[in-house]
Amino acid sequence: MKRRDFIKKSAVVGVGTYAASKIGMPASVPPAGGKSSAPVVISTWNFGIGANEVAWKLLNEGASPVDAVEQGIWVVENDPTITSIGYGGLPDETMKVTLDAAIMDWRMNCGSVGCIEKIKNPVSVARKVMERTNHVMLSGKGAYEFAVAHGFKPIDLLTDQSREIWLNWKENMSSTDNWVGPHDMDDLMDNHDTIGLLAIDKKGRLSGGTSTSGMAWKIHGRVGDSPIIGAGLYVDGKVGAASSTGVGEANMRIVGSFLVVESMKNGQTPQEACETAIRRAIEVHSKQIKADKTFQLAYIALNKRGEVGGAAIRKGFQYAVYKDGVNKLVDAKFLYAQ
Ligand code: GLY
Repeated sequence: MKRRDFIKKSAVVGVGTYAASKIGMPASVPPAGGKSSAPVVISTWNFGIGANEVAWKLLNEGASPVDAVEQGIWVVENDPTITSIGYGGLPDETMKVTLDAAIMDWRMNCGSVGCIEKIKNPVSVARKVMERTNHVMLSGKGAYEFAVAHGFKPIDLLTDQSREIWLNWKENMSSTDNWVGPHDMDDLMDNHDTIGLLAIDKKGRLSGGTSTSGMAWKIHGRVGDSPIIGAGLYVDGKVGAASSTGVGEANMRIVGSFLVVESMKNGQTPQEACETAIRRAIEVHSKQIKADKTFQLAYIALNKRGEVGGAAIRKGFQYAVYKDGVNKLVDAKFLYAQ
């Protein structure tokens, strides 16, 4: 018996249902009623337009929704001008770029990486975790070593632009230290946060993914919501999928994407379900939201019928929807008006 077969066999015997995440659920469950308009792709922010373009094309050509999600997210991870995701993402307080990502399919298969360094496409490492391990999440050095073992080529993710922005943050942080700079950091900041991308193919198969460099200037080692299954991403193949963007800590506290999907399971539309999670986030974080005018959290959702929704705490969140042959940006409903 090969070592891996032995490990697999022992694990099944020892842990019983350990492999449930690999066994999967029925490939396609018909929607409860109505006609699906699949394929449909929905993703966060305006950079989602380019990601949707690639994902939708792949779905139309018959690719699996996992391929569509992964390759859609690549568009944003590879763009050095986007300072909150992948290559060019803003670093932590020690000037290290650390990335989080996740992927999940319609059969409850899922994988994620937290705080991975030097790898341009963390969503693809997350996919390798999903497909080539019995684990769900790898982090830090271990995630990096796993990626390298799978042939990912390490690169320096810090672009000149993100280094300059870090430098300006450092120089403006305190009037009593010895870092001095001429710039106003606000001119340089455009931190749009996570890409969350959800897709459904013509067979009704759902998948989703996330990718982010997380909060700029975070403490080294911080992991956000994006790689946490249930918080940054959740997919129930019988019901729908959800993803989030914004203050990860706030989302982790309410396991928001799971809440969105569970609300859809209980009969809410994707729009209603996103609003349910936003109301919960506001209820839990009312003090912080009042004190910090930049405190934002948002959800997107897609159900089995190809219906979509999105909602945010504050004005300003946009999401991209590719549906019925049209790829467009939508201003999300916001529930906190001050
Ligand atoms: N939502 C991304 C983060 O907090 O890292």
